[in-house]
Amino acid sequence: MKYSIKAGATDKINSDCIAVVVWNRGSLSEEAQLADKMSNKGISKIIHSGDFTGMLGQTQLVYNPIGLKSKRLLLIGGGESKKLDAKNAAKMLAAGLKAVFTSNAASTHFAIASLKVKDKTSSWVCKRLAQEAETASYRYNETKSKKSKVVSVNLISVSPGKGARRKSLEEALQSGSAIGSGVNRARHLGNLPGNICTPSYLADEATLIGNKHGSMKVKILGEKQMARLKMGSLLSVSAGSAEEAKLIVMEYKGARVDSKPHVLVGKGVTFDTGGISLKGGGGMDEMKFDMCGAASVIGAMATVAQLKLPLNIVGLVGAVENMPSSTATKPGDIVTSMAGKTIEVLNTDAEGRMVLCDVLTYAERYKPRSVIDVATLTGAAVATFGSHVSALLSNDDKLTAALIESGNSSLDRVWPLPLWEEYQGLLNSNFADIANIGGPRAGTITAACFLSRFAEKFKWAHLDIAGSAWHSGANKGATGRPVALLVEYLSQQKA
Ligand code: BES
Ligand code: MN
Ligand code: ZN
Repeated sequence: MKYSIKAGATDKINSDCIAVVVWNRGSLSEEAQLADKMSNKGISKIIHSGDFTGMLGQTQLVYNPIGLKSKRLLLIGGGESKKLDAKNAAKMLAAGLKAVFTSNAASTHFAIASLKVKDKTSSWVCKRLAQEAETASYRYNETKSKKSKVVSVNLISVSPGKGARRKSLEEALQSGSAIGSGVNRARHLGNLPGNICTPSYLADEATLIGNKHGSMKVKILGEKQMARLKMGSLLSVSAGSAEEAKLIVMEYKGARVDSKPHVLVGKGVTFDTGGISLKGGGGMDEMKFDMCGAASVIGAMATVAQLKLPLNIVGLVGAVENMPSSTATKPGDIVTSMAGKTIEVLNTDAEGRMVLCDVLTYAERYKPRSVIDVATLTGAAVATFGSHVSALLSNDDKLTAALIESGNSSLDRVWPLPLWEEYQGLLNSNFADIANIGGPRAGTITAACFLSRFAEKFKWAHLDIAGSAWHSGANKGATGRPVALLVEYLSQQKA
């Protein structure tokens, strides 16, 4: 998709489709007023018919509107103009895009210069529009014989908001587009089945991104190299799988060589059967999504490289498949992590933390400014938060605050759970330094407690995205969260 800023009166814009906003009860935005006047009250007539009220997210496509140069006119309902906050604005833009994407229009102009979003600038509107346009045009076709039609729109233009600098609006469009394509990349990796998206596949995807950007170096470590690093915990998860585990290291350099990096860590369990502690059969297909943390790290790394953020950022992915077999790790087995701590594997289905702990130890070599791990770690996070928010647990209050803030502004929200000392005792083991599960209660917290033992040397936050990473049911599919949050957080950091 191409994006541009295009000035001009609503009736003079020559596009395959021109979109204007109509507020609740048919009250017209400035641009809609002009279009109404030029089209001989064409919009007022539609509103009088009662078919279109301007309710938030409602859309109406009109063909060959009189008095306008554009071939189509799209009315987008904005709801109550005074209630137009970031969330509603995003919803409105997404609805408009969805409507025009069902048409054969090749170009669309958004005549929204007069649009005011609570606490947001016109740059924000442009950025969000481009992000929504990218994500709304994503189609999963990879493994279907009958491909769904690709979106016809390939050019989106926007009227410059009053008093805004053209250059900064153009940058906002580019940055929204980069975020949207990072989100789509994460969704796509998530949606691919486990027999295609293996640890090696994730490694190849990262390598491709590295080859595209001179600022990004990608290294892949195989099982031999990980054994040399004594990553006994990570390797115990892949012990039952024929697929080789991979440690994916993506090093992006956007700042001076000596500038300490921020590190992102992703759980990349390309399929989680539970291992010998086998999961029940119902809905097990959804465990192909158990690499969504990894997908979001890979997606975010591609986006930061495209945005040329002035920081050093490292993306680390522990990619493994969790399978039962005669060589698989058994309940009661004790393994030694890279940090030297011994772990009693009481449940082989608590494998994500076994992978992440060694990757967190690996992260120490970077002396990172912050480390954020992203993981579909616990069913308990789904029970606690459902799908709207990701769980956040951290050993640093400032990092917690920054992530909550970035979550709000990117509309990819997180909410904290306590990481208190009192919970640590649940991980005691009679036979090892630590057990890999903490019993049936407070599952999201005890999982984070486990990780915290391996994150003592840096400021660290853990995002449990088990509820937010994918949709179940008729719209089953990965969401690409929390790419937008990660990119927003990193964009706020100083070099
Ligand atoms: N990948 C799962 C967590 C999960 C389950 C995410 C369902 C989304 C939906 C993870 O590896 C897991 O199996 N966790 C166990 C931990 C338990 C054994 C302590 C869980 O949550 O049941
Ligand atoms: Mn599991
Ligand atoms: Zn898992």
